[in-house]
Amino acid sequence: MKHRILTVSSANLDLDAKLNTAPEGGQTVIGTEYSYVPGGKGANSAVTVARLGFDSILCARLGRDSAADRLMALYRAEGIDTRFIARDSVNPTGLALILIEESGQNRIVVYPGANMALSPSDAEYAFTAYPDALLMQLEIGRETILWSAETARRQGIPVIIDAGPAVSDFPLEKLGPVDIFSPNESECAAYTGITPSGADSCFAACMALEKRIQAKYYVLKLGGRGCYVYDGKYCRSFPPYEVDVVDTTAAGDAFTAALTVEYLSSGSISRAAVFANVVGSLTVSKSGASSSIPTLAEVRRFMGERDIRLK
Ligand code: RIB
Repeated sequence: MKHRILTVSSANLDLDAKLNTAPEGGQTVIGTEYSYVPGGKGANSAVTVARLGFDSILCARLGRDSAADRLMALYRAEGIDTRFIARDSVNPTGLALILIEESGQNRIVVYPGANMALSPSDAEYAFTAYPDALLMQLEIGRETILWSAETARRQGIPVIIDAGPAVSDFPLEKLGPVDIFSPNESECAAYTGITPSGADSCFAACMALEKRIQAKYYVLKLGGRGCYVYDGKYCRSFPPYEVDVVDTTAAGDAFTAALTVEYLSSGSISRAAVFANVVGSLTVSKSGASSSIPTLAEVRRFMGERDIRLK
């Protein structure tokens, strides 16, 4: 069955600036190259869902500017359902300024613009598409996030939350119960005060998250160390796949979207974690946000070459 995944979330145009090392305060450095790339945590996830062969519905808000025209063209080309993308006449399209060091490590500043005007009534309209699951990040206004999660629960469809970016005062308690709650290391530290560095701290962080938000599965994204899954009883680490790291932008967004599609299709969080690690690894091996997200054919080829099986 081809699932229909609704992403209620952010869409940005990214200005990617490559440089050897990010400047210190008061310092000027000469960069190596720059480019504009479609991004935004929500849109990156929606692109991933579409590239992995699922029906992708994006509910987002853009400005009435050329950045928005460019983003809409990409979404249409990807086959994303764009009927629920609103154009805001007051606020500009969201912009992310991304510094990417030679190591692939990034630093991101987001100017949300129209993203913060995405409203519960925008989301209400998107639910008329009868999605099978709701995927969200925290890069839009909290009222819309909470309303959408509550509506999905009332409709009996799974809710998957990618906890980025870290909004330390977000009322996580009001967001659950959800199916999957997935923070990266820094988000985990912001919500729990615990940086998940080894098995003990991963477990302690999950215990602390459990006190704040009820989820069937807590999936910690550990970057170059793979991911860690806790189901309220058992925990398990899933190793990453080695690749040359070019740019880590959007790896987390692609990871959570891949986790969502495999979880929905197989019902197995273990299969989903392996699949998401593959997609995350492939994403860091290319430049940019949406530009780095692999297709299903690329994922299958990579899994075949490395004899990676979903079990
Ligand atoms: O997670 C990466 C994304 O964060 C970028 O595409 C940027 O737009 C910000 O939303």
